[in-house]
Amino acid sequence: MFTKMTKSKHTFKIITFSLTLLILLGLITSIIASESSVADDNNEEDDVKDFEELLALDEEEEAAEDSQVKSAEAEVLTKAQRIVPELNMENYKRVVFEGNEFVLVLGYAPWCFRSAELMPRFAEAANVLNKMGNPIVLAKIDAERHPKAASVLGISGFPTLLLFVNGSSQAYTGGFSTEEMVLWARKKTGMPVIRLNSVPEAEDFLSKNRMFIIGLFEKFEV
Ligand SMILES: *[C@@H]1O[C@H](CO)[C@@H](O)[C@H](O)[C@H]1NC(C)=O
Repeated sequence: MFTKMTKSKHTFKIITFSLTLLILLGLITSIIASESSVADDNNEEDDVKDFEELLALDEEEEAAEDSQVKSAEAEVLTKAQRIVPELNMENYKRVVFEGNEFVLVLGYAPWCFRSAELMPRFAEAANVLNKMGNPIVLAKIDAERHPKAASVLGISGFPTLLLFVNGSSQAYTGGFSTEEMVLWARKKTGMPVIRLNSVPEAEDFLSKNRMFIIGLFEKFEV
């Protein structure tokens, strides 16, 4: 009886001990596992952070490049717009009818999308023609703000391009890219495109003149 008791007590102890061990082991493993998963989470978070920082850097660089390009463009534009006088009631007669042999007038409206599209090309054409030493003046007029001057000039829609030769107007028949406006103006002013008949000639010309626009034409009528 006694031995049986001790034996069962002994077995009980062993079982309890084993159980405790098992529970401890389980606890330890679960702690280790949770720690490693916390570590993983941290790593993942770090990775995401790093990636986001990289993206942000890229965006910053792009924004910097963008703003550089934009400021360069803006510089060219303001420079070009300075040589495109804005006509108004006070000056339009002097500019168009008195002072200049050739005036190309752009009638625009501030709200007009096509005017806004044409304006920078017009300004750039003025810039190119000016650098070429062409006598033509490119001027613009806000036809909505100065309706009377616009109607005297014969501007009725937006955008309108009109050429004034010694004060009398001609319809504009050229294209609407910078190059086409330059080409048309050169033809009208009797200073047509300088023809380059070979590649070496063109290279020589380019090395001396950096701001010219070169077009390749199959057929050319002057
Ligand atoms: C413009 O007028 C001037 C002065 O009268 C004249 O010499 C010139 O040939 C005229 N231009 C054109 C294109 O008719």
